[in-house]
Amino acid sequence: MIDPILPLQKRVSEALSAAFPEVEKGVDLAVHRSEHADYQCDVAMALARKVRKAPKAVAQALVEKLTPDEALASAVISGPGFINLMLRAEYLAAELGRMGHDPRLGAALAATPEKIVIDYSSPNLAKEMHVGHLRSTLIGDALARVLEFQGHTVIRQNHIGDWGTPFGMLLEYMRDQGIDGASSGLKELSTFYRAARAKFDSDPAFANRARLRVVQLQALEPETLALWRALIGVTLDNLDILYQRLGVTLKREHVAGESQYNPELANVCAELEAKGVARISDGALCAFPPGFTNREGEQLPLILRKQDGGFTYGTTDLAALKYRVQTLQATRVVYVVGAPQATHLAMVYAIGRMAGWVPENVRLEHVAFGSVLGEDKKILKSRAGEALSLGSLLDEAVDRARKLIDEKSAELPEETKATLANSVGIGAIKYADLGNDHARDYIFDLNRMVAFEGNTGPYLMYAHARIHSILRKAAEDGISFQGGAIVLAEPQERALALELLQFPQTVERVGETLQGHRLSQHLYALATAYSAFYRDCPVLKAEGATRTSRLQLCQLTARVLELGLRLLSITAPEQM
Ligand code: ARG
Repeated sequence: MIDPILPLQKRVSEALSAAFPEVEKGVDLAVHRSEHADYQCDVAMALARKVRKAPKAVAQALVEKLTPDEALASAVISGPGFINLMLRAEYLAAELGRMGHDPRLGAALAATPEKIVIDYSSPNLAKEMHVGHLRSTLIGDALARVLEFQGHTVIRQNHIGDWGTPFGMLLEYMRDQGIDGASSGLKELSTFYRAARAKFDSDPAFANRARLRVVQLQALEPETLALWRALIGVTLDNLDILYQRLGVTLKREHVAGESQYNPELANVCAELEAKGVARISDGALCAFPPGFTNREGEQLPLILRKQDGGFTYGTTDLAALKYRVQTLQATRVVYVVGAPQATHLAMVYAIGRMAGWVPENVRLEHVAFGSVLGEDKKILKSRAGEALSLGSLLDEAVDRARKLIDEKSAELPEETKATLANSVGIGAIKYADLGNDHARDYIFDLNRMVAFEGNTGPYLMYAHARIHSILRKAAEDGISFQGGAIVLAEPQERALALELLQFPQTVERVGETLQGHRLSQHLYALATAYSAFYRDCPVLKAEGATRTSRLQLCQLTARVLELGLRLLSITAPEQM
């Protein structure tokens, strides 16, 4: 991996053991990027206390050992306990050269590739997918891409809600109305679904029949099953279209819905009961994993089999967990699911471990994301008050992008403008979703998302396209710069270099922490550093070695932006 922190960290550790041989290993003086220097090392208070010296004296002793070498230009004390570290420009330039020669742009392949299951998207069928599922789809797809890029085997699992009570309602309603599933579109299905729901809530006799219908479905009664299959077909076809439109990597073969686990549910219950993990309570089979209590301090149950014999969402999740770890052999299982399901998933993990299905070294991780809010800071709804449909949101984003492109690039041919509007509109939504810490709620503000200024997708896409226009111009003018040396003379060039060199370790951190926004924030910082460089350092108007070097910097920036955006599933056009 290309990462200037590595040699610096090594020097600091050596300085530490040379200056304070009495300090055993384990004291970590972390080197990090800083505004005040290229990098900074924090002489932790802990070290000062350990050696009973003032932080300043500790820093002094370390600095004396941090003599310049081929990478390090200087180490200087700053403030009471910091050491500012500056790198040699030649070293940075050489590292950039290495980065440029590497198709992976310096990002390492995982030392121990893992098998990683990612559960994402996972909408509920016979309902139109709404904006809440958009987050899971986008965050999950970005994480899948990053982990795959790192050389892990990623197994995508679209845990669609295609089983259980809602289907009983819907199927019963459709039979009542004499509606045939296959000839209904998804829109109609959602309408039927709402009508069925209303009837379920107001008509006890219907509710009863709907419950029986679930039992028939679970028992695979042929007529019920056939109608159910037709519904699934309609919804999956629609999902395929949507995924394709979004440009996500999720395909039909990744669908592993709740229904897939139906044959296992009784076994899961029996096994948990036999192992003493679950017991009958009030006629229902429940597990009470330790540490989960309600406000009154009572043990919280995860219900596995209801009094009426029906299995639950939780039972299915346990069957899925067992399958993912034992059959798929995953060593890491990532759930990209909204924050409200945190307790549910934590209970599932605890029960899976109690049952002995999940070895200790297998990581179970919940990427818990926040809600998408409307401008009124409430959960986003359409005017009619229903959850907003995803298709209409995408249409609107594309429309707005189209208007901006018409203003900005009126000269482009119609076809190009249409393609661009699509990439920019959809890229804008994706970036807005991936740009901030996923744990936070965010306000869905289309105007801001599609803007070409600020921390937006279009800003980054545009930065990338502008660099390509410089590279095209260079080619037209017959300027060749490939293979030439990079020279970092101006402060803006140096700042850009330092930002470029952050890319490999940013990817590494995303894979480790599953925080995709670290990558978007890096790309934004890079685009910002690039625009300062471009403002102050003429490229095509420069000459000779300077021009060659600057063109190399431009090209490397474009490559990092392109790859980085691609890992976020955003296509960066070369012309805008
Ligand atoms: N279908 C669920 C929902 O819409 C999400 C499923 C998440 N994955 C899981 N294994 N529980 O809320």
